Amino acid sequence: MNPKIFQTLSYGMYAIGVEGENRPSACIANTVIQITSSPMMIAVSVNHENYSNERIKATGKFSVSVLSEDTSGTVIGALGFNSGRNADKLANVNYKLLRENVPVLRENICCWFLCKVVNTVETLTHTVFIAEVKAGSDNVAGVPMTYDYYHRVIKGRAPKNAPTYQDSDAKTDNSPQLKYVCPICRFEYKDSEQKIPFDQLPDDWKCPICGVSKKEFKIEG
Ligand SMILES: Cc1cc2nc3c(=O)[nH]c(=O)nc-3n(C[C@H](O)[C@H](O)[C@H](O)COP(=O)(O)O)c2cc1C
Repeated sequence: MNPKIFQTLSYGMYAIGVEGENRPSACIANTVIQITSSPMMIAVSVNHENYSNERIKATGKFSVSVLSEDTSGTVIGALGFNSGRNADKLANVNYKLLRENVPVLRENICCWFLCKVVNTVETLTHTVFIAEVKAGSDNVAGVPMTYDYYHRVIKGRAPKNAPTYQDSDAKTDNSPQLKYVCPICRFEYKDSEQKIPFDQLPDDWKCPICGVSKKEFKIEG
């Protein structure tokens, strides 16, 4: 069977907000789907290793911020490639805290909603949370970002914990040209595609996707 069959499935891009032990936290998920409209129910698949999984199980609630095409790669990088277990992932992200202590993003989202878990389904690696939508934003704005847009236009990747991760997320380009690769999110900086060669970038330059510092990048030929 060709593993690419799953690449034909379409998704959106979402920030899942959770109540952390010490501070609010969030991660990126592409696996939010609508289950029913009455009652309003959705499902999301969250990896067992993710802090968000632990917090959703502990609190029974989470929020969904629907990312718009204007969401920057830096926000996706901050939420999608680090764990809230040991980092304040929302430190540089504009968010508001709902009364229920769950964060939702303030900028570049189409809308948000607050979810209460009503059922869970365990798989080998992920928990599928089935949840009822209890509240949501009054306004809907912007163009929702699709998973395809994230890959094709923002040139983003997905980490191993994303259910849709495939080896092609780790490496997509077989051309022999020199490239500098981020060890965390695998963003590739190719001199041939940029105005400034990598070694002339300032020392405080950071990966535009996940914020890793320039010195961590590895050369791949
Ligand atoms: C584009 C993209 C899609 C992702 N989709 C999912 C997903 O649907 N489920 C999931 O568990 N992780 C997904 N991830 C990975 C998590 O966001 C990532 O593992 C994050 O670091 C978890 O943070 P946490 O430990 O604070 O929960 C995705 C990441 C990206 C960048």
